[in-house]
Parts: sequence; structure tokens; C-alpha cells
Amino acid sequence: MNEVYDALNTFLVDESVVGMGSGSTIEGYIPYMKEHVDRYSLDVAFIPTSKKTEDQLKRHGLAVVHHADRMPVTIDGADQFNEARMVIKGGGGSLLREKQVGYFSDQIVIIAHQDKKVEDFSGIAIPVEINTYLYEMTVGTIEENFGAETEMRTREDGLFITDNGNYIVDCHFSDPQDMDQLHNDLVAIPGVVETGIFNRKIRHIFSFDDQGAYQEYA
Ligand code: A5P
Repeated sequence: MNEVYDALNTFLVDESVVGMGSGSTIEGYIPYMKEHVDRYSLDVAFIPTSKKTEDQLKRHGLAVVHHADRMPVTIDGADQFNEARMVIKGGGGSLLREKQVGYFSDQIVIIAHQDKKVEDFSGIAIPVEINTYLYEMTVGTIEENFGAETEMRTREDGLFITDNGNYIVDCHFSDPQDMDQLHNDLVAIPGVVETGIFNRKIRHIFSFDDQGAYQEYA
């Protein structure tokens, strides 16, 4: 994995604040990144996209902040992506914070296993974060308006709750074509907080294989 991690490290700018995504791929990268930060004495702080990522950064002695005037980059994982750098995220439930942190960054750099590359997004669950208030009606509207099949995300003790106190509903759309339009139509429903459809500001995707060799989509 060193090669792809080295590629990510080139995006770390000294004296800056960097957005740090969530998930197991990012968790694997953080210790390697920490070595790089120490080796070059970089003055970098991180805005984490989840409580989990915040804990991981702190455990490795990396600085965490919750505000920045400017962020040159956010580094994040993905659940699916295509060649046009459309990305689906939210498998870990952190999509709202990931979308926020990415939005406030100059660019988003994605690292994802090559198995996550898809030709199109049919048959893929799109995570949608929804407010708990009247959530059955929000879900019913998604089903009705889009002919979607939906599944509320759960955890051991009931419905999954995000870091923001919301629910996640995983939605299957039969043949989603225009993902930007789908996102816009979904967030137009009151109660929908955010969707896992990402494309803005994603400038680079590093897709790696089991040997750690990588391919860049830019
Ligand atoms: C978190 O909500 C997600 O967007 C993750 O970035 C995504 O699910 C990738 O996670 P893994 O690296 O664990 O596959």
C-alpha cells in the first residue's frame, strides 16, 4: 500500500488544515500519513468527518481542529466510483460530515479499492441521511416519487443513528441515470438531510489493487 499512500501524501500541504474522511481505508492510511508528517515536520491539522476518525487521528498524536479559513484538500474513501469520478459514499454513515468537509475544501482526493469501480450505479444502494422527525413519511415519499426500494439502516440496538442524530435509509433506484438530478430531487424532499452522491470537487481518485499498485483517475 505504500505507493498509493505516498501518492496521497503529496497532497498534504505544510501549514494547512486538511479534511480527513472516514472508513477502514482511511483508517489504514492514517498511521502512514503520521510517519510522513513527522518525517517532514509538517505543520498540519485535520478536520475529521466522524467521531471515529477524530479518535483515530488523536490516537496517532495528530492535531484535530473544527474550523479552518481554508482547506486545500480533503482525503476520503468511497463505496463506489466510476471513471467520470462520480462517487457513492456513506457506507459508514458519515456522509453528511464528509459532504460538508469536502465542500469547504479546494479539492477532494479519494482512495478506494479497484473493486469499487462500477460502470453505472444501478443495483447499488445509495445511502440517504434523513431527519428522524416523520421519517416514515420521508421514506414513503422516496419510494413513491422514485419507485425506489428502501431499507432503514440498523445497528444491534435498533435503527442506526449518525453522528448528527439522524437516520440512514439505503435506497435502490431501478436505473439511476442522472445522479446529479437524483441528488437534487432527493434533497428537495423536506426531511432528507443529505445523500451519498458525491461528485463536486473530486479531482483525483486513486484506485488500488491487492498488491498496492494504483491507478489514478483525474
Ligand atoms: C463513510 O460514511 C463512507 O463514506 C466511507 O468513506 C466509505 O464507506 C468507505 O469506507 P471503507 O474505506 O471502510 O470501505
